[in-house]
Amino acid sequence: MRREFIIEHIDEYVGDEVILKGWVYNRRSSGKIVFLLVRDGTGIVQVVFTPRDSGEENFKIAESLSQETSLEIKGIVREEKRAPGGYEIIGKEIRPIHHSEGYPITKKSHGVDFLLRHRHLWLRSRKQFAILRIRSELVKAIRDYLDERDFVLIDSPIFTPTSCEGTTTLFEVPYFDDKVVYLSQSGQLYQEAGAAAFRRVYCFGPVFRAEKSKTRRHLTEFWQVEPEVAFMEFDALLEFAEDFISYIVQRVLEKRKKELEILERDTSLLEKVSPPFPRITYMDAVKLLQEKGMDIKEGDDFGADEETEISKSFEKPVMVHRFLAEMKPFYMKRDPENNKLALAVDILAPEGYGEILGGSQREDDYDTLLKRMKEDNLPIEHFQWYLDLRKYGSFPHSGFGLGIERTVAWISGIHHVREAIPFPRTIDRVYP
Ligand code: 4AD
Ligand code: MG
Repeated sequence: MRREFIIEHIDEYVGDEVILKGWVYNRRSSGKIVFLLVRDGTGIVQVVFTPRDSGEENFKIAESLSQETSLEIKGIVREEKRAPGGYEIIGKEIRPIHHSEGYPITKKSHGVDFLLRHRHLWLRSRKQFAILRIRSELVKAIRDYLDERDFVLIDSPIFTPTSCEGTTTLFEVPYFDDKVVYLSQSGQLYQEAGAAAFRRVYCFGPVFRAEKSKTRRHLTEFWQVEPEVAFMEFDALLEFAEDFISYIVQRVLEKRKKELEILERDTSLLEKVSPPFPRITYMDAVKLLQEKGMDIKEGDDFGADEETEISKSFEKPVMVHRFLAEMKPFYMKRDPENNKLALAVDILAPEGYGEILGGSQREDDYDTLLKRMKEDNLPIEHFQWYLDLRKYGSFPHSGFGLGIERTVAWISGIHHVREAIPFPRTIDRVYP
């Protein structure tokens, strides 16, 4: 691609004449000087116009431009400590490309419903810019971590014949000849086939849950990365998960400092994210909650309040492990030391962000798995291929799924996961 000037690389252009193409973010004048804040999609820079530097005609144009007008500016880059970002451009020429009239998102504060209805424009705002650049870096960090460790990308299908995480949260899609298929809730089962063929594999894509949960942690379409590793047993899985999370968090802190500053994120706790993470069994977590006076008993799932309470006892992400098997899906392996427990782990992020990762060792015994599936009334014919994996060279294996939006929300310090994805889908919103 041809190298053009972008604000992101402005430090390489000090003293140079550049062509800046972008949009008016804000304008302010005082007497014979106009300050335009111009964004180009990679950052925001202050451009200063005076009749002396640009001539009366260019100055008049600069003085009249409205928010989000697209334009092209010729000017000279210089360092300026007082300007946002430390650089500014002395404007020489200005050429509007398209005048924007009545841009709906102004400096006054808008309700979140209004902003979500204008999500296609809201993306241009500074805070959204910061969050989605953090997301992009997080995705890159995830891919780098796995790719550098010999994982092979095996994309799981989205249309599936049946459920993986429980039938109550499936979206049905009409298929040919009056059949129905479902949108995938998780790519995991297919990764297990991948692990037998490629040893270390992952999928990374959107998954769908028809959950009727209207909370700040739930979307109906969200992104999951799901690694699966052959011959990995439970203790090694816990070490893998904590190393993985530590790596991706530290990478974002290193590469997205500016964005975290825009969000005014206090990063002190994030800086501490490094192995080992504290571990607590499900049973001990229940006791901990009971001691804190919460109304919970063995066998209950943790809701948002319980997760927040547990994570308050720790500074780092906490690994809750060995849940009651009856609470968890059919594919999880039982603890050989206690058949009532599943070799399952949930990782809860600090600061009340809740569960960001769920994983387990998988049941690798044919008969045990078949029995569990029958107990759950699963349609065996749809799962024969999955059982085959336990028939032809079965092997211990483990994996997990990390939710991208919850991880972005946690790192960015934002309240709701809907801002952590470009175009959020929730129970009552699929527009724009
Ligand atoms: O814990 P979950 O349901 O695990 C699975 O789907 C496993 N099959 C993964 C595996 O072992 N390969 O989901 C994994 C993560 C959660 O920890 C959470 O971060 C996120 O996905 N998640 C959601 N994020 C946003 N909205 C929702 N409705 C979510 N449901 C789960
Ligand atoms: Mg889970």
